[in-house]
Amino acid sequence: MISNKLVQARLILSALVISGAMVFSGNAAAECKLESTKDGSPLAIKVTDTDSAEAKEFLETCVNPYTKAYAKDPSLIKPGGKKLFGYNGCSGCHGGKLEGIMAPSLSKFGGQGAFDTKWVYAKNATDKGMFETIAGGTPGASGGTMFIWHNQLPDHTGDGLTTDEILKLIAYIRSEYHGDGEKTWLK
Ligand code: HEC
Repeated sequence: MISNKLVQARLILSALVISGAMVFSGNAAAECKLESTKDGSPLAIKVTDTDSAEAKEFLETCVNPYTKAYAKDPSLIKPGGKKLFGYNGCSGCHGGKLEGIMAPSLSKFGGQGAFDTKWVYAKNATDKGMFETIAGGTPGASGGTMFIWHNQLPDHTGDGLTTDEILKLIAYIRSEYHGDGEKTWLK
C-alpha cells in the first residue's frame, strides 16, 4: 500500500513537472522574437533583473510602451529619449534635429538623400523593426552602416545601451516624425 501511494505521488509530481514545463514553453512562445537587421539572425536579448517594466513588456509583446506615452505626454520626451540621443552621440551623425548629417534623416522631413524621406529599411516603420536596427546594427543599404548598440550583443559600441534606453530613443524618434507616411506605431 505504502509503495503504491509513493508511486502515485511520483506520478502526480511528474505530471505537475510536465505541465509546469508546458506553461513555461507557452510563455517562451509568446516572447518577442527579435531578428537582426544586419543579417536576419536571431538577436539574443534577454530580460535582466534590472530591466524596467517597460523593457520587460517590450521583450514579451514587441510593443514599445514609451511611444504612446510620449505622444500623450510630451513633457516626458526631453528628459527621456531626447537626452539619450544627444548623450550617446546619435545627433553627431543623424543631426540635433534628426535632419540627417552623415546618416539618414530620422524625422523623414526631406533632405539630401533618397533615405531622408523614407526609411532605409521598411521594417523601421514598426517599433520592433527599429529596435532591431538600433540594437543590432545595419548592413549599409544607404551607403553607410550603423554599428551595434545593445549592451547584451557582442561588439557593441562603447558601454552600449540597455533595452529601456533603446525604447526611449525610438519613442523620441517617433515624436519627431514629419514624413508623409502613416504613423503606424501609434495604432
Ligand atoms: C557614426 C554615425 C552614426 C551614429 C553615431 C548613429 N548612427 Fe544611426 N545610422 C547611421 C547610418 C550610416 C545609418 C544608415 C545605415 C544603413 O544604411 O545600413 C543609420 C541608421 C539609423 C536608423 C534607421 C534609419 C532609417 O531610415 O531606416 C535609425 C533608427 C538610427 N540610425 C538610430 C540611431 C540612434 C538611436 C543612434 C544613437 C544611439 C544612432 N543611430 C547613432 C549612422 C550613425
